[in-house]
Amino acid sequence: MKRRLTIAIPGGERSKAYPIELLRRAGLHIPDLSGSRSLKHELEEVTLLEVKDADVPVYVDIGVADCGIVGKDWIMESGRDVYEPLDLGGPAYRLSLIRLRGATGRIERVASKYARIARGVIAAKGMAADVLPLNGKLELAVTVGLVDAILDVVQTGRTLVDNGLEEIEVLHKLSMRLIVNRAALKLKVPTVRELIHRLEP
Ligand code: PRP
Repeated sequence: MKRRLTIAIPGGERSKAYPIELLRRAGLHIPDLSGSRSLKHELEEVTLLEVKDADVPVYVDIGVADCGIVGKDWIMESGRDVYEPLDLGGPAYRLSLIRLRGATGRIERVASKYARIARGVIAAKGMAADVLPLNGKLELAVTVGLVDAILDVVQTGRTLVDNGLEEIEVLHKLSMRLIVNRAALKLKVPTVRELIHRLEP
């Protein structure tokens, strides 16, 4: 690769495993990073930054990172204007509206880690519900009656079953995506193109 790229990926042992596997499959030499708590890795061909999922689009849009690998949910939630050239697949998951199994009646309050997406969904449906932004473990919020519904990601569905919940609507099918800073796309054309080509499923 001609010009060195900085790539932002979700940090943490579980989150970074798939992005690193993808980059290795693309032919990049990435050593075992599991023993390191460092968040910036200057590697042979690229620099890797480990950030929170939600922040990957921010690093890429502002340009501290040229590219990022992150779930479509966080790209949508960020509202950032980044180029998204590639669907990288990975474990299939979905964004769903979820309630207690068998629940009926009006939805007046919806909790989500994705407040922006939730507000959009509620407006599009013409629902008069408030959005309560929470940071995780949303299933509990419905179980204890804090909210009537949650908008959350579902992968295996196990968490729903174990908490007595059900999906009432699947809103988006999601997967991991490659995102690219719009200026880097122009300034580092051959390098970015090569990365896209190498990552293509
Ligand atoms: C996510 C999501 C669900 C769970 C879904 O939570 O918010 O709780 O995974 O997975 P499943 O369908 O395979 O059971 P995560 O583990 O990211 O933790 P969080 O609730 O703290 O955000």
